Amino acid sequence: MPALDLSRQYAQIREQILAAIERVCSSQRFILGEEVEALEREIAAYVGVTHAVGCASGTDAIWLALAAAGVGPADGVGTTAFSFFASASAIVRAGARPVFFDVDPHTLNLDPAHVEAHLRNRKSRRLRALLPVHLYGQCADMDRFGDIAAEFRLDILEDAAQAIGAGWRDRRAGSLGRAAAFSFYPTKNLSAYGDAGLITCNDLEMAEHMRRLRNHGSPRRYLHEEMGWNSRLDAIQAAVLRVKLPHIEQWNRQRRERAATYDRLLTQSGLTSSTGDAPVRTLAVAPQAGHVYHQYVIRAERRDPLRQFLADRRIGTEIYYPIPLHLQPVFAYLGYREGDLPESERAAREVLALPMFPELTEHEQQWVVESIAEFYS
Ligand SMILES: Cc1ncc(COP(=O)(O)O)c(C=O)c1O
Repeated sequence: MPALDLSRQYAQIREQILAAIERVCSSQRFILGEEVEALEREIAAYVGVTHAVGCASGTDAIWLALAAAGVGPADGVGTTAFSFFASASAIVRAGARPVFFDVDPHTLNLDPAHVEAHLRNRKSRRLRALLPVHLYGQCADMDRFGDIAAEFRLDILEDAAQAIGAGWRDRRAGSLGRAAAFSFYPTKNLSAYGDAGLITCNDLEMAEHMRRLRNHGSPRRYLHEEMGWNSRLDAIQAAVLRVKLPHIEQWNRQRRERAATYDRLLTQSGLTSSTGDAPVRTLAVAPQAGHVYHQYVIRAERRDPLRQFLADRRIGTEIYYPIPLHLQPVFAYLGYREGDLPESERAAREVLALPMFPELTEHEQQWVVESIAEFYS
């Protein structure tokens, strides 16, 4: 059983997908154009914002959001040490300096207390913006980050790459900061058939700026007023995403059901316990959060041998992420050392993502949990 089986989804929507691709091929308009504009409108409405700007990837979406928010050289941007590399590389690409913070050990999302302590310390360098990541499909604590941003006058830019459809109180991820970045990489809950990304915001001027930046900084053909990039979204990806978008609520609901099933099976098998003295621990879900389980992640004792044991049974698992960002060799220039962000480092040693996708069956989940139980027996 793979960690993710996209072929089951494709079997449900194959005809609509092929028709959508055929529509684009018949139009012979492959870059931006009507399909992309329609997708932008549909996602803006779904997320609950006024503007959406399609681009080439989630990585570019973060960069575009940062650049359009005015983040640039000499700025510090605070983010989590426990995320995919792009959360930090996009900060560097915007010319700024990533400032890494530790995670809340219960949710593994960026810890507001750690950020706040840094900002209150007069010796710390000021930050220009915060980039919380909604890890595994659960929003970071946007109440606390909203308060922090207001007090310290920071922009909040959401890395919502893993969180389309996720909620925080009565709002959706993507509507909780100044702008938000989404990824539609093929493994994401809403996924393209190639690379694709998008930024949401409520600011017309910012949206128009991002439209220029994604197209070489060009307001009209062959006029370049600032340095941009080629990060245009192609029409085939937009057409595929438009077929899938109406399914996302149901797919996310199915993911939540699968997560509840894992929770139940793990408890019933005695692998988890409320006192935390069992070999497996699950992550906490904040009461304000509507989790969309991009991943279902456990923390496991002897994680690597467990992973090998499951692999021998052809059960696919993944480690998101084995090396925290502050210890990545490319960030050595920032001067972090092992031990600086202990919760992120511990998480990197313990996390294991179990198979998770909407079409996963209870029978398969039983097999996963029985196998984990056998490993620890
Ligand atoms: C948290 C996070 N941020 C950013 C990205 C980058 O997105 P992309 O792969 O579309 O560039 C991803 C996914 O890959 C991600 O998981």
